[in-house]
Formats: sequence, C-alpha cells, structure tokens
Amino acid sequence: MKTLIEPYRSRMVEPIRMASREQREKYIREAGYNPFLLKSEQVIIDLVTDSGVSALSTRQWAGMLGADESFTGSRSFYRFLDSSRSLLGHRQVIPCHQGRAAEHLLASAVIRPGDVVFANTFFSTTRANFEAAGAEAHDLPIREALDPASLHPFKGNIDLEGLEAGIRAAGPERVRFVVVTVTDNSRGGQPVSLANLRGARDICRKHRVPLLLDAARFAENAYLVKQREAEARQMSARQVAQAIFALADGVFMSLKKDGLGNSGGLISLNSDEWAEKIRVQLLVNEGIPTAGGLTGRDLESLAAAFDEVLDEDYLVYRIASTAAFGEQLAGAGVPVLRPFGAHAIYVDGRAFCPHLPDEQLPAWSLSAALYLHAGIRCWETGNVMQGRYDEKSGTWSWPALDLMRLAIPRRVYSGNHLAYAAEALIELFAKRHEVRGLRFVYRPPVLPQFVATFEPV
Ligand code: F0G
Repeated sequence: MKTLIEPYRSRMVEPIRMASREQREKYIREAGYNPFLLKSEQVIIDLVTDSGVSALSTRQWAGMLGADESFTGSRSFYRFLDSSRSLLGHRQVIPCHQGRAAEHLLASAVIRPGDVVFANTFFSTTRANFEAAGAEAHDLPIREALDPASLHPFKGNIDLEGLEAGIRAAGPERVRFVVVTVTDNSRGGQPVSLANLRGARDICRKHRVPLLLDAARFAENAYLVKQREAEARQMSARQVAQAIFALADGVFMSLKKDGLGNSGGLISLNSDEWAEKIRVQLLVNEGIPTAGGLTGRDLESLAAAFDEVLDEDYLVYRIASTAAFGEQLAGAGVPVLRPFGAHAIYVDGRAFCPHLPDEQLPAWSLSAALYLHAGIRCWETGNVMQGRYDEKSGTWSWPALDLMRLAIPRRVYSGNHLAYAAEALIELFAKRHEVRGLRFVYRPPVLPQFVATFEPV
C-alpha cells in the first residue's frame, strides 16, 4: 500500500481556531512580527517546535492516573529510574525539569572559567549555559553540514580531524568534555553515525576527555542510523540506541522530544564524583534527587515513553511522514535542506528570498509571511538566532545557513495538516518576491529569538 497512515488513532481532540487573514495581520503586528510572541490560539498549525507538545498515549495517561505524588522516594520515580537505566545503561540517573536545566546543572557542577568544550553543534541553550559558566564553546560540524545541497547521510557528524586538532591546541587538561548532539537540531536535525561516534569516543579516550551526548532526539537518530548505516541494518531501534549510549561517558537530555514528555529532562552518568556534585546543585535549584522538580505524573508519563518512542511502527511512520512533507515541498521547487531528518523540515531562507539581504533576516521574514499567509507558526535557526553584532566595528556576522524550521510535533498532526502546510508554503513560494523584509526593533543580548521584536523594512 502506498498510503501512509498514522500508527495510532485519536480518542480525544482539541479544536483548532481558524484565525482569518485580517485577524492574522493584526495578531502578527501586535506580536512585533515575532511568531514566538503569538498566542497559541491565534495559530492554525503550530510547527514552532516538537518540544513538550507530543500527544500522550493511553498508556501514559493510565500511568499518570495511578501516579505516586509522595514528596520523596515515590513509586513513579523508581519506574522512571528503571526505564531510563535499562535503556541508557549508566549507573547514575538524575531527573530535572527540562533539557536546559540539565545543561545548567552540568555547567555549574563541572565547568570552570577557562575550560574549553567542543560539539558537532551546541544547541542555543546548551551554548548559553556552558558559556555562562565560563567555558569557550566551539562547534565542529563536518564540511558537508554547511552545504544545503550535500546529500551526505550523516550531516550531524562531528569533524574528527578538527576535534583532534582542537583538543591538542587547547591542551587536553583544559577540555572539560566533548558533546555530540543527536540529532544535530541546529543544522537540520541531521543524524550522527555510529562510526563517527566511535571515532569521537576514541579521540576522547586517548586524551582522557569525557564524551557526552545531548540526546534529545536519540530515537530518531537511532532509526536514521538503522536506515543509513550498514552495520545497524539488522539491529532493532532499541539496540541501535543502546549502542549509541554505550559509546558515551554520560548523557544529558531534554525529555520533551523523544522522551514524549510535556516536561522533563535528565542527566545519566557513570561518574559518581560528577553525580554527587550535580545532586548538590539539584537540591539547591531544581528539587530532590527522586523528583528533580517533576511531578509523579510527569515521571509516570516519561517511564512509559522510551518503549513507545522506540516502537518501530512509530519510527517508520515518523521518518516517512516527515520525508513525504519534505518531498512535497522539494517537488514544487521550495529550497529545502536535504537529506531530510525526522523532526523537522528546514527551508533555506536566503534561497527562498533572494531579494532580501542578510540584514533583512530572510528566514525570519519568511516565517512571519507564512503565518500571515496561512496561520502556520514556525521557528528560525539562522540570522536572528545566530547573527552576531560587533559593537566596535558596527558590523554583523551571519551564520553559514539561514534556515526556517517547520518542526513536527509527535503524534499530533495528521497527514492532511501537513499537506495544508506544504500547500501554503508552495503558494508563498510562487509569490516569494512579495515576502517583506524585517529589521530588529528590540534585540536582547542572549537568546534573541524568544523576545525580540521587529518591523517591516
Ligand atoms: N538540546 C537540544 C538538541 C534541543 O533541541 C533543545 C531544545 C535543548 C537541548 C533544550 O531542551 O527545551 O527541554 O530546555 N529544543 C527545543 C526546540 C526548544 O524547539 O528545538 P529544553
């Protein structure tokens, strides 16, 4: 059969409000042309993130109804611990309320000013947390990751030669750890291969530097490895995920993506020394070690999630439906980043809007135009998020890629919703010269995407 069907059915629905064109004009103006500042009920299809927005399953809800909300030592925590340990394989598991809390705990417990950390690409909050603790954070993507046309199957890989040279140049004693982000969200949700992770592990071992994973989308990475890397073809998704985790000394992750949680994060480690330092921070900032700021209900929903997200019927559908969405756009000439990852489709803002110079923020302007055109909200990972302004010279430096991301929440939208989104973007592409450039009105010093405001040029 050619028709792709969702391997689940809906037994509870949430109505969508269909904001009219006139309403959308008013809403986006009031939001300072920042889709983040829209109210969710002003949005028809919300593709701003895949984080914390999954639909929960009957099994998750059943667990939540039976949750143990005891202050400490709850049954729900131990169910979460068993499920995490059996998948991740590390001795120590520390819960916390979301991914950036895990980053903050790790940074404040182990990073010292003057440290150096490397990654394929640090996600924006990860970089912000490590830099705030005094580290120099360097991205080491492979060359192909910077080329939107490259069909390299593992554009998330870390540049191994660059890593070796970087550790030598910094001096191994200054390098606190190396991070591999699976999948590499900031560069298109691209996967990392087992071979590359093994290479990174070997380099780290040689220099006695810990290798950590930012594993927010580990299940999607595992299935893309199974599809694209010969050695994994006969393995189950769970086995691939375990092989990935076994290569790392530790993992920190947001559980709002492949953890299928509305909130949640964790740190998983073998080092008792680091775990102890992190638990001290946890007690001060997050919560007690058997909850980490999460409710028993959260812990129950997370305990069920690792099985569900590694279900291969689910993963096959997830990856095929995202690719079908991408193919629909590519077929109409929309400049999309290839190959397709699993959680999102990324559109090349500069290629879509060649009439807009970098100062007019092409991908961001496109996202505002897409909301106006069809009520679709999405996110930019490009000039607004990564552009740097140099006060001294009064000039901007722009990132290699200026992308608009259409992220797909897990188990929420149907194929028809995505077809609507594709049709909208294709219509906009036909009149792309009408997309108006925007410029900053207010730009905060860190993480500008969440609160910046803009005006049409
Ligand atoms: N690491 C990666 C790779 C992420 O994609 C995110 C969040 C985080 C860490 C931080 O986790 O949100 O739970 O604090 N990404 C979201 C997104 C926000 O839309 O891509 P968090």
